[in-house]
Amino acid sequence: MPYKQQFTDKVYFQFTDYLSKKFGMECKTNKRQMLQSKIDSFMRINQIESYDKLLDFLKTNEDTEQWNSFVHKITTHKTDFFRENQHFVFLKEHLPLMMQKNRRIVINKEIRIWSAGCSSGEEPYTLAMFFRENFPDIYPKILATDISTESLNTAIKGIYPYTIKNEIQPYYLSKYFTKDVKGFQINPDLKRFITFRSFNLTKNFKFKKNFDIIFCRNVMIYFSEKVRETLVNKFYHSLVNSGIFIIGHSESLINLKQNFKYIKPTIYLK
Ligand SMILES: C[S@@+](CC[C@H](N)C(=O)[O-])C[C@H]1O[C@@H](n2cnc3c(N)ncnc32)[C@H](O)[C@@H]1O
Repeated sequence: MPYKQQFTDKVYFQFTDYLSKKFGMECKTNKRQMLQSKIDSFMRINQIESYDKLLDFLKTNEDTEQWNSFVHKITTHKTDFFRENQHFVFLKEHLPLMMQKNRRIVINKEIRIWSAGCSSGEEPYTLAMFFRENFPDIYPKILATDISTESLNTAIKGIYPYTIKNEIQPYYLSKYFTKDVKGFQINPDLKRFITFRSFNLTKNFKFKKNFDIIFCRNVMIYFSEKVRETLVNKFYHSLVNSGIFIIGHSESLINLKQNFKYIKPTIYLK
């Protein structure tokens, strides 16, 4: 064993308690092994020799670069361009109706969108492309947030591996990306629609202006039911009336006390 300490039940509970308090993360017992291997790998790389030392370090070094790299390691960042395309199909149909109800979008020619848990940026860039293609007169003002600064840095750079050509249609690839030596670089013209920010969704939040659409896809699956319920209600209060809330394919709001109106699986209306 590389460390001077066993990953005992006590250690496991100390970590799960910390992760749940800090990030709302729920670690189910069947994921214990995976959690341990992520923690072990972080300790190996950072030459931390015991779990107690790591916990001490985490508690006293919040928001440092190393703490951020632990957060990145412990969270899941899988994402794709045009992921769950049915959401974009729905928006294309529904937005004209939404604009009839909410004349501000048409008058100001601006729609406010939040991509909460945006990972490395594929979701907000997809939203920007979607609006340029389908509603070119409307300026999509997109706030893209994530707890992982490492993912956000990738998003801000906007350079993606060549393999994205498997998830993006050739039309979009040639129009919105430039091939360079490191991969496909997103067109700078799309970047201007997006503000990337580091943001922990378990903290309290209130925005000066509410959003028309909130995407929070494949983020809450890692949260406990209580954290999910609190967060869904915070999203509700951060949307304008008749605003749209979209979650991931394996998520639902069943069992949560909340006021959204169900439209279809994973899509809700305020
Ligand atoms: C699986 S990715 C989902 C990305 C994108 N929404 C999608 O569906 O393709 C989940 C993201 O949620 C972020 N995340 C996890 N816990 C978070 C928290 N408490 N606050 C903010 N972001 C969090 C992770 O860093 C990760 O990038």
